[in-house]
Amino acid sequence: MKRILSGMRPTGKLHLGHLVGALDNWIKLQEEYSCFFMVADWHALMSEYEDPAGLKTNSLEMVADWLACGIDPKKSVIFIQSQIKEHLELYIVFSVITPLGLLERCPTYKEQLRELKNRELHTYGFLGYPVLQAADILLYRAETVPVGEDQLPHLELTRQIVRKFNNLYKEDYFPEPKALLTRFQRLLGLDGRKMSKSYNNYISLSEEPESIRKKIGNMFTDPARVRVSDPGHPEKCNVHNYYAVFAPEKKAGVDELCRKAKVGCTDCKRQLAEILVSHLSPIREKRTELLADKDRLHSILDEGAKKAREIAEDTMAQVRKRIGL
Ligand code: TRP
Ligand code: SF4
Repeated sequence: MKRILSGMRPTGKLHLGHLVGALDNWIKLQEEYSCFFMVADWHALMSEYEDPAGLKTNSLEMVADWLACGIDPKKSVIFIQSQIKEHLELYIVFSVITPLGLLERCPTYKEQLRELKNRELHTYGFLGYPVLQAADILLYRAETVPVGEDQLPHLELTRQIVRKFNNLYKEDYFPEPKALLTRFQRLLGLDGRKMSKSYNNYISLSEEPESIRKKIGNMFTDPARVRVSDPGHPEKCNVHNYYAVFAPEKKAGVDELCRKAKVGCTDCKRQLAEILVSHLSPIREKRTELLADKDRLHSILDEGAKKAREIAEDTMAQVRKRIGL
């Protein structure tokens, strides 16, 4: 089976955006690929270094979220980046061959500097973010990397680093990894902007039912529907989009009732909330159960680290040989 590597930064609770945008896809990929799923805690440190206290807890909780959603340690290797020292070793090798200009021009870099104003990100480490990501991928010689569109510049940089390495050291050792962009369903945040922790417009995977009901109840609907008798425009309504994602079989029905003004927005949202409650309850319960048994979580991660390390050590031995160190 071909190898896949992907990762997430442990910067807080996972939400519906992570489920729809990544996890649902990871779960399917487990059947067809040899999957490596990594907690990118070094990457998180790059932006959270001023207040890193939550990283360890967040890492464990994120893994609990993954497992609760259906990432299966019997099928996939689940591990924490900072437990495998070879990530940093390959990172330094790639650092010395990566032109500074490529990093300075990287669109994600410029965007993050602009957007994350409350953090001091003008650091040497943060500039090298995509170089570490390239090391993550190539340490496992992964050919496929499931990511969202926002990560494409990092994948392109990874390919450039591979070409440079293979060119310099005269043998095509590393494969050029490809992004696997699934046409994700688009799920916006509760306020219609991108779902994000910093906008506080999300529903977390561990959200309590009451809180889900409240948050869905506060969503904006079609602004043209002032009275229940006004026909609605579901295409202009974010609630309708949530139906499309979480209850596709109900989408057409809601569409019709809305256009014919046969359902009011309050009811429509109430039903959606119940759909989400039943979708998330098993995940929340599983997550609680997992977090109550930390020993088991740690042993899953130890097992994952062992498998990851084996490949990582082999890659680094090959890299050292090729460079002549
Ligand atoms: N940069 C990725 C993100 O923010 C996380 C990540 C780190 C990653 N290393 C990776 C993703 C390797 C894919 C492959 O989402
Ligand atoms: Fe949106 Fe439902 Fe109201 Fe139509 S009835 S506008 S789909 S919330």
